[in-house]
Amino acid sequence: MNLRVGRHAVLGEMEAGRPVTIYVDGEPVPAREGEPVAAALYAVGIRTTRYSPRSGEPRGPFCMIGRCTECAMTVDGVPNVRTCLTAVRDGMEVETPGRKKP
Ligand code: FES
Repeated sequence: MNLRVGRHAVLGEMEAGRPVTIYVDGEPVPAREGEPVAAALYAVGIRTTRYSPRSGEPRGPFCMIGRCTECAMTVDGVPNVRTCLTAVRDGMEVETPGRKKP
């Protein structure tokens, strides 16, 4: 099954970009250049984009159109980036807020 986004409700038609690698909490993750970061994570089975600061429960993308902020992650050192609207670039570093370090 292809879990890549072909058409995004806000970003429009998505062409399959070249294969690149992003780093999520230091781990390499295959992605397609230009696709939303949250979609790239979903495609490889990563459903948690942050942890609740109150309960510690995992949270994941909900709306995928930039409204709910459930997808907010730290991207290249910038906190609270809505990853459902942020295009993948080769080598970008993504961190999961609230994640307990091993
Ligand atoms: S999933 Fe709702 S703002 Fe990104």
